Amino acid sequence: MLADKDRIFTNVYGFQPWNLKAAQARGDWDNTKDLMARGQDAIIEEVKASGLRGRGGAGFPTGLKWSFMPKEPRADRPSFLVINADESEPGSCKDREIIRHDPHKLIEGALIAGFAMRARAAYIYIRGEFIREAETLFAAVQEAYDAGLLGKNAAKSGYDFDVFVHRGAGAYICGEETAMIESLEGKKGQPRLKPPFPAGAGLYGCPTTVNNVESIAVVPTILRRGAPWFASFGRENNKGTKLFQISGHVNKPCVVEEAMSIPFRELIDKHCGGIRGGWDNLLAVIPGGSSVPLVPAAEIMDAPMDFDGLKALGSGLGTAAAIVMDKSTDIVQAISRISYFYKHESCGQCTPCREGTGWMWRVMERLRTGDADISEIDTLFDVTKQVEGHTICALGDAAAWPIQGLIRHFRPELERRIRENGGVMEAAE
Ligand code: NAI
Ligand code: SF4
Repeated sequence: MLADKDRIFTNVYGFQPWNLKAAQARGDWDNTKDLMARGQDAIIEEVKASGLRGRGGAGFPTGLKWSFMPKEPRADRPSFLVINADESEPGSCKDREIIRHDPHKLIEGALIAGFAMRARAAYIYIRGEFIREAETLFAAVQEAYDAGLLGKNAAKSGYDFDVFVHRGAGAYICGEETAMIESLEGKKGQPRLKPPFPAGAGLYGCPTTVNNVESIAVVPTILRRGAPWFASFGRENNKGTKLFQISGHVNKPCVVEEAMSIPFRELIDKHCGGIRGGWDNLLAVIPGGSSVPLVPAAEIMDAPMDFDGLKALGSGLGTAAAIVMDKSTDIVQAISRISYFYKHESCGQCTPCREGTGWMWRVMERLRTGDADISEIDTLFDVTKQVEGHTICALGDAAAWPIQGLIRHFRPELERRIRENGGVMEAAE
């Protein structure tokens, strides 16, 4: 179990105030200018050496992403950092806690990361529903300006840097990085085709890096304690500490910082008081927010909670939001509900997603009630394969994968419902 002294987010439960004075007492903003004095390239190299991978879900190496930014931005084409605080993935609730209780870690991280990538400013795009969190963030940013930590000669570093907070308006798709950029520009939040990636053409067509809240908030501590310290947690390719969010049928749902790669059973026993009704009562887990396939109980128990461990099980770490389902769960209904979510949140821009999400949800509903033909299980699987990888953004994949996981692991349950409803059990000729 991660020792208290190794936790980055020491105020994640809000036992102390979030304000600047309390944050400084916890070590934030301590000689920030000295960290910056190491130089931009040295900071990027340190972050690379730490093994930090993006905490928003995709796990792209953070230092590598920063290194795509121009070393000499043109005066008429400044670089920008965009911080994704649009946390909307069902099950995810970690960025919210950082902003509520530790906003200065994020703001200090924004300055250091922005400096390292030679950005002119950072835009923090916060989920519209996070009303109180936005209030806290606005106030914390103002505190930082008032203390000379942002703006001209930020933190006496000699570097000018601004932070702007922008509130979203409730669209899940605006969490996709290029839709977020469109939204920041005042347009309808719809994803752009990639490439070009934002580092080439991002906000206002300028070089931009989009990073998750947690990815940025851990940076000051990595620099203070050193890359080897951060890399000493987890395992090869899956380094560091990580905020896990556990919801559903555990005795004590929580957000907790742990070492990457902790086995699932250990995570649940140590921090959540075990599974409701005992481990024999576990049915399945969606380990990384709703966008990744479920994993049945027997396979998840000893799985390392990291990118590679969950990928090997045909799922993913995603945002490390584990949704735990015990045997009282109607698993078909649960996945159908997730299908409805993606149908509702599709931006409608590309046909496989716009048409496919609605079609998949309607078939899922008939499978839920057993009012389907047995052959439709395979047809549904085929359609998920036609949606996956054939859309502009990852929402299409996210809609397809939970259904694939259900069919892969719970086919007998789907067939049982059809059989009991008197449905056609033979595949059509
Ligand atoms: P992605 O894999 O397309 O990109 C990840 C990051 O790496 C992006 O910033 C992208 O610009 C960059 N990148 C990838 N390849 C690159 C290249 N060749 N050159 C330069 N940059 C490159 O994944 P995406 O679509 O950004 O994120 C999908 C993930 O988001 C899902 O796995 C899901 O878990 C997560 N997600 C998180 C949500 C949340 O609330 N935190 C909501 C919905 C999804
Ligand atoms: Fe929009 Fe869906 Fe296409 Fe993404 S995959 S761009 S959400 S229609």
